[in-house]
Amino acid sequence: MQDGRKDYFMGLKILGTGYYLPETIVTNEDYTRIVETSDEWIVKRTGMKERRITEQPTHVMAERAALKALENAHISPEELDMILCTTVTSDYITPSMACIVQGNIGAKNAIALDINAACAAFVYAMDMAHMYLQHGYKKILIISAEGLSKITDYTDRSTCVLFGDAAGACIVGWSDKGFASVLGSDGTGAHTLFARRPLNDIPFVEQVDPQSVDHFPDVNRPGVLYMDGREVYKFAVGAMSHALRDASVKFGTTPEALDIIVPHQANLRIIQSAAKDLGLPVERFFVNIDKCGNTSSACIPVGLAQLDEAGELTPGKTVGLVGFGAGLVYGGCVFEL
Ligand code: UT7
Repeated sequence: MQDGRKDYFMGLKILGTGYYLPETIVTNEDYTRIVETSDEWIVKRTGMKERRITEQPTHVMAERAALKALENAHISPEELDMILCTTVTSDYITPSMACIVQGNIGAKNAIALDINAACAAFVYAMDMAHMYLQHGYKKILIISAEGLSKITDYTDRSTCVLFGDAAGACIVGWSDKGFASVLGSDGTGAHTLFARRPLNDIPFVEQVDPQSVDHFPDVNRPGVLYMDGREVYKFAVGAMSHALRDASVKFGTTPEALDIIVPHQANLRIIQSAAKDLGLPVERFFVNIDKCGNTSSACIPVGLAQLDEAGELTPGKTVGLVGFGAGLVYGGCVFEL
């Protein structure tokens, strides 16, 4: 035990952050030219005004964010001993995006692997990094990079207005100030948010009807996202406050003690509702949804890096991160800067 906390809650600290946003801005007005929607509907129902998109590979965004984090941390790529990448939009089925980044930035001493936990993946990666730090790893680079425009169905007004592209990176190291996390998964909701992989045309075998395999709804073409927004919304509202509350308690504190909360940016109403549920002022929650939209796992590290850039990540502050998404999955973590 240390400071009243169990020793396995000992620590993690942020050594450096970085982010990358593509140059092309898509406004709500732009969507009115391709689907039946309006700026008023999008702002009122989501809080989104614009988002960034790009045709460049996801790993290129990841590398740009990673290099900024390295510069910010004054760390050379060779000092990294692990790279964890989170993405649902990797450019290759194999190898992992983490290995591509490792090679391209010259992090020759780092082991590298990808994590798929959709929009909660950055929190899952923080949890994994925390465990590896306890096993002797010293400098772990987490990169969340998403090229969601590549899997967006631009004929579906209920989803296409939501998503953007971005990458955020964070280098973490050991600390004695504590870290606690709460993760959860509920695969019974898997069919509410998914993108099906296109089937390969295999010779010798009869093509299988995807419906007979996974029982997911046959709602749109393989390769693009489908979401039952209302169902995911209901899950998200409960998961956000549960994860933040329980992670705070596990850390030995309460949500009221959190100085900064960086939530997944899926919908401003979800963030407002979590704030209300936890009895916290909404100003405590970082929001950039108006500028970036939903960039899946990249939302949280981009938020952290933007706060860092603004000088907000000062020592002594307690930070809460919380995400949720396809799986369905959720995760919250709390640590002291
Ligand atoms: O990051 C992964 C996790 N994702 C999320 O957490 C997203 C969670 N869900 C949501 O944020 C919300 O459910 C949405 C923003 C996706 C949708 O908002 P909503 O208030 O739940 O709308 P709805 O789906 O209940 O649809 C209400 C109406 C429907 O029309 P009818 O049936 O009432 O005539 C939709 O067809 O709004 C219509 N609609 C639109 N209208 C204009 C749906 N999308 C649009 C649109 N423009 N873009």
